[in-house]
Amino acid sequence: MNVNIMNVDYSTKIPNNVNLSEDRQVLKALEGWHPGYMNWWSDMGPVGFQQSLVYLRTAYSVDPRGWAKFDYVRMPEYRWGILLAPQEEDRVIPFGEHYGEPAWQEVPGEYRAMLRRLIVIQGDTEPASVEQQRHLGKTAPSLYDMRNLFQVNVEEGRHLWAMVYLLQKYFGRDGREEADELLRRRSGDADSPRMLGAFNEATPDWLSFFMFTYFTDRDGKMQLHSLAQSGFDPLSRTCRFMLTEEAHHMFVGETGISRVVQRTCEAMKAAGITDPNDIAKVRALGVIDLPTIQKKLNLHYSLSLDLFGSEVSTNAANSFNAGIKGRYHETQIKDDHRLQHDTYPVLKLVDGKIRRVDEPALTALNMRLRDDYTQDCVKGLLRWNKIISLAGYDFKLALPNVAFHRAIGEFRDVHASPEGVLVDDATWKKRRNEWLPSTDDGDFIASLMKPVRDVGEFAPWIAPPKVGIDNKPGDFEYVKIES
Ligand SMILES: [Fe+2]
Ligand SMILES: [Fe+2]
Repeated sequence: MNVNIMNVDYSTKIPNNVNLSEDRQVLKALEGWHPGYMNWWSDMGPVGFQQSLVYLRTAYSVDPRGWAKFDYVRMPEYRWGILLAPQEEDRVIPFGEHYGEPAWQEVPGEYRAMLRRLIVIQGDTEPASVEQQRHLGKTAPSLYDMRNLFQVNVEEGRHLWAMVYLLQKYFGRDGREEADELLRRRSGDADSPRMLGAFNEATPDWLSFFMFTYFTDRDGKMQLHSLAQSGFDPLSRTCRFMLTEEAHHMFVGETGISRVVQRTCEAMKAAGITDPNDIAKVRALGVIDLPTIQKKLNLHYSLSLDLFGSEVSTNAANSFNAGIKGRYHETQIKDDHRLQHDTYPVLKLVDGKIRRVDEPALTALNMRLRDDYTQDCVKGLLRWNKIISLAGYDFKLALPNVAFHRAIGEFRDVHASPEGVLVDDATWKKRRNEWLPSTDDGDFIASLMKPVRDVGEFAPWIAPPKVGIDNKPGDFEYVKIES
């Protein structure tokens, strides 16, 4: 019988729905990796609160209709498990040269290196974000927010387990070596950094955290969606379940930014401020002014765009042809799913101007995924702008142009304003602080980051959420700090 269990086995040390108790070799490998993981968690996971009781959800099933149960857990006792979405019967490869062939249950030899590379890159981002966010617990604006931070953190830890399972089960010795390396690299480390740029940046304050979970976790969503299409079925099933968890991370980001914007608007209104650009007056109220929120958005969006890689990429074409990494919502797209003769418009720098140029669709897959990402990002902006306009202010948050502040791809060697106007070095240097958070902006935000730990209370720069987690009331004690 195929492994197709919805419920998770909690009788083994490593909870799973992949029948680990009958897979001795992999169970042994994972048990061997476990102590190193726990060391990593205690060295690089959240600072403090490790003995606090946190109201966390844990997966007991992979049935999307009901998969999580909530309870108080000490983070080191969280049950990190291996959870794959149920196997779809008779699934076929939905794109590329092997279109229509049965999905692979084992790694095809010719694509082994390519698959391993993609799994390692995805795996590397998971612990990286935990490392980036490790100092935030101590300045949490409420117990509700602290709980959300820790929920995101333990689940990113679980995503690391998900990738490590694939490496150890399907890639033998080099898979085990890669699994160890994932615990060795460190976000921001000079000698041994994480693999992707955005995952080596600091997350110094809670506004950054919300921006990160909105924009950078959303890159993760796009990557997981593409890998969920994979012809390598275990990868597809792993990513499908990760996406279920990922939705909450982006919810934390979207509602976090909403609540900051809302609080700022309320405070401006109460104080009779009519010009949201009057930064000094707004800051005097102890809330974050909208122009500074825009700068933070500029930073995190541009860093996240870099995660999609070069607009034109033969690697992307190769992994699509191979049936390893598909497009966003591949199975819903109406075309031949091979793309041998199609083109896709790519933004390029032509004679010093930003232009759309048709490129072979296969090499333009990164660009296409990035376009899908941008469309997905816009939804949050609509909501935030609605809060601002309902409060009666004439101010719109906007995504910066793709040429703005880029380190990878077509625009890495030029400077552009957020509106997409190319500017020279001198102008960039002069105006940088208008477009990206300055040291002063950072210092101001840092000055607001005072912890609030009374039940049901919130820091004055952020509005309370509309509803509680797991439908809990406003005065619910999400974290019992002294336990
Ligand atoms: Fe993740
Ligand atoms: Fe995430």
